[in-house]
Amino acid sequence: IPVSPFALVVFGATGDLAKRKLLPAMFQRDLAGQLPEEATVIGAARAHLREDEFLALAREAIEEHVPASERDAQAMERFLARLRYVAVNATGEEGWQELAQALAPTKERIWVFYLATAPSLFGPICEHLGRFGLAGGNARVVVEKPVGRDLASAKAVNEVIGRVFPEERIYRIDHYLGKETVQNLMALRFANGLFEPLWNAAHIDHVQITAAESLGVEGRAGYYDTAGALRDMVQNHLLQLLCLVAMEPPAQLDADAVRDEKLKVLRALKPIADALSSQNVVRGQYRAGASAGGAVPGYLEELGAAESMTETFVALKAEVETWRWAGVPFYLRTGKRLAERVSEIVIAFRPVPHSVFEPSAGPIKPNQLVIRLQPDEGVQLRLMIKDPGPGGMRLRQVPLDMSFSTAFGVRNPDAYERLVLDVVRGNQTLFMRRDEVEAAWRWIDPILEAWSHAEEPPKPYTAGTWGPSAAIALIERDGRTWADGG
Ligand code: BG6
Repeated sequence: IPVSPFALVVFGATGDLAKRKLLPAMFQRDLAGQLPEEATVIGAARAHLREDEFLALAREAIEEHVPASERDAQAMERFLARLRYVAVNATGEEGWQELAQALAPTKERIWVFYLATAPSLFGPICEHLGRFGLAGGNARVVVEKPVGRDLASAKAVNEVIGRVFPEERIYRIDHYLGKETVQNLMALRFANGLFEPLWNAAHIDHVQITAAESLGVEGRAGYYDTAGALRDMVQNHLLQLLCLVAMEPPAQLDADAVRDEKLKVLRALKPIADALSSQNVVRGQYRAGASAGGAVPGYLEELGAAESMTETFVALKAEVETWRWAGVPFYLRTGKRLAERVSEIVIAFRPVPHSVFEPSAGPIKPNQLVIRLQPDEGVQLRLMIKDPGPGGMRLRQVPLDMSFSTAFGVRNPDAYERLVLDVVRGNQTLFMRRDEVEAAWRWIDPILEAWSHAEEPPKPYTAGTWGPSAAIALIERDGRTWADGG
């Protein structure tokens, strides 16, 4: 879908997100021929860089994050020619006039202000945009998560942004929603007649959602220690995935129809009782261990502190109290420095009601539909078959496997490539609405509140494993097991 001419202003342009994701994403779209000739990217940050210094930074970022086989010198020059830089002080007066001047020649275009900054700057930046006349009808604002650190602060942030931009021009990014396989979940559910009749408590035993990372907190320990896995991953990414699995079919795929259905799921989440007991929620923190690349330090060493109550792992059991899902647990799990990087959703169906086979045929494993988000994106349906050969009836579970890279052989675009252009197109479907973010916090807050009274630190786990044993006990207590790993 073509996009209209636009100017994208990236606040925090010298930061990690801009270098790792935003600049490479825009480069990729340019390479794909999707950027109109009149598309400009203005970097804005506090640093006093000359334009050629910013261009060098952008070139380096793209070289680092886009494989050499996917770029060529001409494309690089074309993209760099679109870039500008303005030094702006988000909390002061410096640079705003210059930014307004840089935008003046583009006033017929769509303006996208991407706030890739600390959340504490969202308010001051929006306020300046308003004051300098940059927040008019053609302007949209994109904010990165986390929106707040609890319900009260999320409301305050939303309030501040809302004073300058109306809701239909605010884009709250959850980059998981831009992942190809996550969107595919909607196609799978709503473009196939096969699943919907089975998509309920009568046929589904439980759901597992895992977002496991093998990396540690890398250079982000400062931010991470104030957040923790519950705020960093569960409040947004994991709950959004849960919503897409659990929501009722929307009447159409327009932004509000989809977001209304997700909101209903968030509101139907049963409050987690007893968050300190490890019955329903387990928090962990990694200790030194080993990953594929060798020995790795523990969280406290990376943080450079003797102690921290911040969790780098969470497993929890959520329940959606609706007719469709009554009694179906949703087990959610995420963590840093786990055994491997894998994100997937497992829909575990109920066992067959009766076995017609001799015990010698072996156990009948219930069917599973696995949606693999990364790596090796794809969909797998785990079925029972007869083990081939003359050895009589022996049952075996095998995957009916559809790997996207094998099936389509195309590069999977990064979530940001899709999402930034959706902002230009004015499509909010894959962005979180204010009430959704707040409903998610409303469910998360009591867990945070309970933890704030915890005397015991998070349960330790060795880096390179599947988290604390309490996370395994959490699901096994219900007579179930994690489908993969752990
Ligand atoms: C971010 C979190 O939102 O998502 C990071 O802040 C995390 O801590 C990242 O590493 C994971 O994203 P992805 O796309 O690599 O699964």
